[in-house]
Amino acid sequence: MQRAKLLEGRVVAAGLHQRTKARVAELRRRGVEPAVTFFRVGEDPASELYVRMKEKRAKDLGILSEVIAMPSSTTERELLTRLEEKNRDSRIHGILVQMPLPRQIRTEAVCQTIDPSKDIDGFHPINAGKLLLGDPSGFPPCTPAGICEIFRHYGLVTAGAEVVILGRSNIVGKPLAALLLAKGPQGDASVTVLHSQSRHIPEHCRRADFLIAALGKAEFVRGDMIKAGAVVVDVGVTRLLDSSLPGESRIVGDVHFSEACQVAGWLTPNPGGVGPMTIAMLLANTVKAAERSAGCGAD
Ligand SMILES: NC(=O)c1ccc[n+]([C@@H]2O[C@H](COP(=O)([O-])OP(=O)(O)OC[C@H]3O[C@@H](n4cnc5c(N)ncnc54)[C@H](OP(=O)(O)O)[C@@H]3O)[C@@H](O)[C@H]2O)c1
Repeated sequence: MQRAKLLEGRVVAAGLHQRTKARVAELRRRGVEPAVTFFRVGEDPASELYVRMKEKRAKDLGILSEVIAMPSSTTERELLTRLEEKNRDSRIHGILVQMPLPRQIRTEAVCQTIDPSKDIDGFHPINAGKLLLGDPSGFPPCTPAGICEIFRHYGLVTAGAEVVILGRSNIVGKPLAALLLAKGPQGDASVTVLHSQSRHIPEHCRRADFLIAALGKAEFVRGDMIKAGAVVVDVGVTRLLDSSLPGESRIVGDVHFSEACQVAGWLTPNPGGVGPMTIAMLLANTVKAAERSAGCGAD
């Protein structure tokens, strides 16, 4: 019997896209054309797909977008030079470099080179620092911000709640912890962050009012690790070969969906949960960058 209500990220993202589209129209009325550059290095099929999806969605919203595809032999210096060109180009408001990068290019060097005011992924140390300090003038990373937006949409209040996050990466676990720990109506949680060296993981998970799984381990969270009625968010994306359909693969999250459905109060489907929110926040950040450069907008 299904108990959990679904947190439909796809629906929340559609609403956010509508609001972003209205902001794009307002910018265009003022003569500003919001524009984003996506960099892709190498021929990773998943990266190609992600960039295509982002580009298509940007176009749907009226945001100008360009993709700069570079070969896998690109040197770090070559990529940084192209990034510096786009930093100087006042027509471009947002810059994104699709990860992962080939081994010869350091992710930190890339994150540090993008102008913080165009850093729509929110990975630049200045934006990471602003997030930790609770300064709203930065860009929050898209996946954690998207998760908070889902909570806001469904009226799920984290204030005073026990939040357990599985995973401490710089793109999901750590920034999400900072957002949920921040003072204010969208935060105020008591946050525990777990990782590969953590002990007693099931015990920690079982006391969580909000359990967020972002470790990239297929179906790691089983039903008996979830507190009855908890909010469960599945960030993980693992592609598994489907033994019943040779040559086919399927996406599996970090949460065992059918078991979690019977225990959790709220649960993100996967796909259709966190993924659509990541792109929606990215394009909202692009428009925010364009509004700031034009000296208009909400902040
Ligand atoms: N849907 C989306 O939009 C979206 C966006 C971003 C990421 N993702 C997905 O989310 C997942 C996590 O992404 P990520 O970039 O944060 O991954 P990551 O950089 O690989 O980090 C994984 C984290 O999980 C921890 N971990 C690994 N195995 C563990 C275990 N057995 N027990 C406890 N902790 C464990 C690691 O601990 P250590 O730090 O100790 O190594 C690390 O902190 C991936 O499946 C990714 O594809 C989805």
